Amino acid sequence: MNVLIIGSGGREYSIGLALSKDSKVSKLFFAPGNGMSDTLGENVSIKDYHELADFAAANSIDLTIVGPEAPLVDGVVDIFKAKGLTIFGPSADAARLEGSKIFMKNFLKKYDVPTAAYIETDDLEKASAFIDTLSAPMVVKADGLCAGKGVIIAQSGDEAKAAAKDMLSGESFGDAGKAIIVEEYLDGYELSLFAVCDGESYKVLPAAQDHKRLLDGDEGPNTGGMGAYAPTPLIDDTLYEKIEERIIKPTLKGMQAEGMPYEGVLFIGIMVVDGEPKVLEYNVRFGDPECEILMPLIESSVFDLFYKAATKDLEHLDIRIADKYAVGVVMASKDYPYKSSMPAEIIVDDVVLEELKERAHISYAGVTREDGKLFATGGRVLVCVGIGDSIREARDLAYLMTGQVHFAGKKFRKDIAYQALKDA
Ligand code: AMP
Ligand code: GLY
Repeated sequence: MNVLIIGSGGREYSIGLALSKDSKVSKLFFAPGNGMSDTLGENVSIKDYHELADFAAANSIDLTIVGPEAPLVDGVVDIFKAKGLTIFGPSADAARLEGSKIFMKNFLKKYDVPTAAYIETDDLEKASAFIDTLSAPMVVKADGLCAGKGVIIAQSGDEAKAAAKDMLSGESFGDAGKAIIVEEYLDGYELSLFAVCDGESYKVLPAAQDHKRLLDGDEGPNTGGMGAYAPTPLIDDTLYEKIEERIIKPTLKGMQAEGMPYEGVLFIGIMVVDGEPKVLEYNVRFGDPECEILMPLIESSVFDLFYKAATKDLEHLDIRIADKYAVGVVMASKDYPYKSSMPAEIIVDDVVLEELKERAHISYAGVTREDGKLFATGGRVLVCVGIGDSIREARDLAYLMTGQVHFAGKKFRKDIAYQALKDA
């Protein structure tokens, strides 16, 4: 089978890496891919989705997998499907679960899925009146996609009103903030859960925990994610069951009832408050770097998982998850996340330790190759992944791998998975 992966990050590389080891896959393509994905397959530099669909048809692509949210929100799935192609991901309509927080919150309310109490509005007076009913902290969110920056946790009513005013004026986030959500603050702990869905059936992958802040101890600015581990001990069977019954099943039923059955990855951002799961947000794609640690934990065919999801055939698929742990440590460029950095040559030492060869690897993201040399050219450059029988072992292997990687200005957190290890 030939597979095309849309995207260029570590997430897409890790899907490609898993598929490259799958006996069902003959050829891989990446659009556009990065400076290392062409060692797994072929990079394709077509940007226009209609042209890309023509390329897929002409090159006998059996399955296309979409990594990032932007092409999904832009309707790449609809374009491919209109040409009779098999593609994994939600339609543009269904991608509004991520693309519009107002759509998502109203959907959750309509189908009785637990989430923070809220109002949606484009009117400052209404926002202020609702803010007056809440006790601090309270949360103000821009409706549209803001690259993870459109959420303000305000410590007072005045701060919340100021944030609402900035957003509604279009000053902070342009059109994405012309309508807002104001909601109650949920005090608990966060989990990320990923369900691969075919419209009706779904398969849940191990729960992961991301580290969004730049610095150790969860300090510093938010980033796309500096590391992750899975499975996390913060979830047990009772919580899984609550999430399936109260969140995943009603969401899939609701999306069917809305005439937009949800196909693709449902990334559920959950806050657990006193043992009860509540939806913070939906994303319509895998998390990055969560994907990099989940792919190696899938023991059964990764191709089957995506293909059967894309062809509404998940119900009878058994997926096998390894009885292991994975930890991923992101290595980023000097000035991430503030600005782009000068290209820096990457040297990866030859791995001699047998254990490291077998139980650790690198998922490449912001890299370019020129004249046989590899350069760090993106914010998040690569992810060192370790797989072990315990979180500690996986973490140690991931960090051993970071010691093999050298480039000027490299930085990474030293405490990935600390929450899971602090009591151990
Ligand atoms: P979102 O993009 O909506 O997931 O928000 C980004 C982050 O803001 C989340 O991962 C949470 O850490 C935090 N957050 C969002 N909404 C709330 C809420 N209602 N209560 C507490 N924290 C929140
Ligand atoms: N790592 C979080 C995200 O991809 O949104």
